[in-house]
Amino acid sequence: MDIFSITGAAYIVAALLFILSLAGLSRHESAKNGLTYGIVGMGVALVATVAGTVDASEFIEDRPLVIGLLVAAVVVGALIGLWRARIVEMTGMPELIAALHSFVGLAAVLIGVNGHLEGSHFELDSLNNIHEAEVAIGIFIGAVTFTGSIVANLKLSAKMSSAPLMLPGKNFINVGSLGLFAILTVVYVAVEEGTGQDIVLAVLTVLALALGWHLVASIGGGDMPVVVSMLNSYSGWAAAASGFLLGNDLLIVTGALVGSSGAYLSYIMCKAMNRSFISVIAGGFGIAAPAGDDKDYGEHREIQADAVAELLAGASSVVITPGYGMAVAQAQYPVADLTAKLRAKGINVRFGIHPVAGRLPGHMNVLLAEAKLPYDIVLEMDEINDDFPDTDVVLVIGANDTVNPSAAEDPSSPIAGMPVLEVWNAKDVIVFKRSMAAGYAGVQNPLFFRENSQMLFGDAKDKVEEIVRHLGD
Ligand code: TAP
Repeated sequence: MDIFSITGAAYIVAALLFILSLAGLSRHESAKNGLTYGIVGMGVALVATVAGTVDASEFIEDRPLVIGLLVAAVVVGALIGLWRARIVEMTGMPELIAALHSFVGLAAVLIGVNGHLEGSHFELDSLNNIHEAEVAIGIFIGAVTFTGSIVANLKLSAKMSSAPLMLPGKNFINVGSLGLFAILTVVYVAVEEGTGQDIVLAVLTVLALALGWHLVASIGGGDMPVVVSMLNSYSGWAAAASGFLLGNDLLIVTGALVGSSGAYLSYIMCKAMNRSFISVIAGGFGIAAPAGDDKDYGEHREIQADAVAELLAGASSVVITPGYGMAVAQAQYPVADLTAKLRAKGINVRFGIHPVAGRLPGHMNVLLAEAKLPYDIVLEMDEINDDFPDTDVVLVIGANDTVNPSAAEDPSSPIAGMPVLEVWNAKDVIVFKRSMAAGYAGVQNPLFFRENSQMLFGDAKDKVEEIVRHLGD
């Protein structure tokens, strides 16, 4: 059997393992197996690709140099990947993922440029045209993914404001750029190879880079979870486009898997957040600029840990709604102690989890599972929302946007329409945070000024530990 048949067979095995991986990752119980399938699939794909490339380099003059460069790229890439994976905090995962998507985009652009420089030498003109269209489309998707992911990374790491960029005529810019891309692609395919074609491709690349930047910059903080999964999808299509250019079936299959699963995840997230899918993928199409917020919300009240302990001791039903701040403070372990203490006193304690609490899908569930909290008391937003009127005390631990009543009550709010945990319907609400600062979406939260709300200022972990101490044995 020659190396091509072996590589082809390995690619089929890898593609099947990727499909099994996706199927496994869709359920909690099978997620670990799903990961294992993915790792093995990627290992098979990598070995097959390297072996195929080494074999194909047989007739190249600088063979040792080619193989040396290949090995260096794999080793350096693997070392950087290992180092980043080891040091990344759970809260930093979305920005790391955004950075990785930008590499996929950049790779697709470089493969496209390579395809352009190599040109195509088919006898049939129509095949040459297809090659050129692949180059243009690959570069376009790759460049949009590249700059879009850089903006997402900057927004998620708070190096850039999370507020939506509101250029005048932003919808026209986006739709116009798509139209211009279609025209440039036709021109690129139609003109002869040479300087003219180089210039058309350069303009197309700059247009795509600018569009990617603008698309993601136009989307506000609250919609960032959808943007990340959308960029995940774009990076899949960019990889698939590269697969067509390189004639690599595995890249096409894997790219299509990532592209379609990312698109479906974006759709599910849009539904959960009551957002229009089209509006988000079109760079905030139809979303108006938020009105300036100079409203007077009144005074907030403060409470201390000992008084919270007293309040809890007298309650019969408590709901904890954790958010990003619990992850930052790593407060899940004292929260588990607090839960155990309250349950030992016969108090009904449950958790209410918002679908986009924290910074990645399932963030809170992972933290609570880490602290070994029983899964049957961890409820989804829809399962718990009707129970707040019968709840004595709600502990809002490091959550903000996900418990903001203006989403439900103020149509002019940038997060209007997003379903939230309706904690304000409970008898008493205690908000754990360090200051009166706004949440991720940069929107003030009227909950903090409600009559039944009290603020417990400080690091969430320290405060929960204090409460546990005050509760005694
Ligand atoms: P946020 O709205 O992000 O608010 C978190 C709150 O935690 C802040 O108000 C902050 O206030 C507080 N906090 C931070 N560190 C703390 C600490 N050490 N101790 C106590 N409090 C601390 O949280 P959320 O309600 O979970 O909402 C998530 C937001 O992120 C949504 O807007 C969502 O759209 C967005 N987002 C989500 C995802 C996914 S997939 N989940 C991905 C990207 C973006 P102080 O600074 O005053 O302490």
